This record gives sequence, C-alpha cells and structure tokens, in this order.
Amino acid sequence: MVKDRYDIVVLISGRGSNLRALVKHLQAANSAATVSAVVSDRADAAGLRFAEEEGIPTCVVPRNSKTLNNQEFNSVLADAVNRLKPDLVVLAGFMRIVTKEFLQRFPNKVVNIHPSLLPAFRGLHAQRRALESGVRLAGCTVHYVAEEVDAGPIIAQAAVPVLPGDDEDSLGERILAAEHKLLPAAVLAISEGLVTIEHSGKSAKVRLDASLSTDPDAKLASIGGTL
Ligand code: GRF
Repeated sequence: MVKDRYDIVVLISGRGSNLRALVKHLQAANSAATVSAVVSDRADAAGLRFAEEEGIPTCVVPRNSKTLNNQEFNSVLADAVNRLKPDLVVLAGFMRIVTKEFLQRFPNKVVNIHPSLLPAFRGLHAQRRALESGVRLAGCTVHYVAEEVDAGPIIAQAAVPVLPGDDEDSLGERILAAEHKLLPAAVLAISEGLVTIEHSGKSAKVRLDASLSTDPDAKLASIGGTL
C-alpha cells in the first residue's frame, strides 16, 4: 500500500552529494516520499549545511571514541533515529559501521549506497581498488544493509566503464554521477512498494516489481546497463 507520507532519514558523514541528489529528485518527482531529517556523526559535515538551507531538520550524534565504543554509539544513534520515526533509513556516505542491534531496531528499512558493483570491492577505497584490479566495468550498488559491511540484498546497480587514462578521481566522478541517479531511483521504488525482500533459508534477495522494467524513469532495470 502506498502511504500519503513516507519519511526518509538520511545518515551522512561528509559532503552529502547523494543526499542533495535524493532531495532534489524526490522534489522534482513530487513524491510522497521526503527526506524528513538528516543525521550525522560529524558536526562539520557539509551535507548538514545543505539540509539546513533546504529547511530539513538535522541532528548530530557525535562519535567520541574515548567515551563511546561502537555498540554504545549505535545505541545512541538508534534512539535518535527512532525518534524521527523513519519509514526508511538511507546511509549515504555514513562512515560508521552500524551494528546488528541498530539494524534490529529498523528491520528491512536500512539501505546503503556503495561505489562498486558489489560483491566486488567491499569496504573503503572501492574506486581505487577497482582501478588497481584492472576491471573494465565499475559502478555502484544500492543494497539493504546486513550486519556484514557492504553486504545485504542488492536492490539496484549501475555500471560505468573504466576508461584508458582514468585515475581515482576521474573514475570516482563517473561512479558518483551514476550514484546520483541510482540512489533516488531506488529509494523512490522502495517508497512506492515496488521492492520486496525474498528470504530463502539463510539467504535473501530482492524482487523488483515488474512495472520497473518498463518504467524509463525508474532505471532500475538497467542492471548491467548504463544510466
Ligand atoms: C559515495 O561515494 C557513497 O557511495 C559512499 O560514500 C560516498 C558519499 O559521497 N558510501 P557523498 O557524501 O554523498 O557526496
């Protein structure tokens, strides 16, 4: 069932270009889904300034490793996010590892964007490692978050070529441009109830509604293709 209101809480640590792309895309699509709050572990995250300019409430949950271990940080973070009553939590450049306990508070509601074609190049510096490995296709993935870092049922992927002469910056920019289209398309599809997680034993994968394959705006059918 599509709700009248669909509240998205975005977690960031830095620049927030994916946050910006998501906010702008949802506005342009006149969607019932809106970014209703932005949470950061860093008060100096540039994305917070963008949110403030847009009138989106912000909240900082600082991570001071001297006073909080990661479990404690996640508990404070989960309380802060829970108060915002999200329909969906989007990790968009959030540089902290969320724990099992955090995920249990928001079952099937936490998604992440990662700058590689998962399961390749999990973790940090995915773009650099793609370049170093000699792959000809790089890209990005939107996935539900599982306990293991950069793992969980894949919702959508977009591929970009690795071109001769690429360095980390040029490849990173090409991937980022794809991220800015893929994340909003995936979030919109989730908010419209077009994305389902199917469990089979211990594994889980995502089923996309058939309508997405014919929807030129959704672009989720472009798995393995270009955006
Ligand atoms: C993106 O490359 C995203 O895939 C990764 O962190 C980066 C965040 O960039 N998880 P931005 O803050 O959205 O500009």
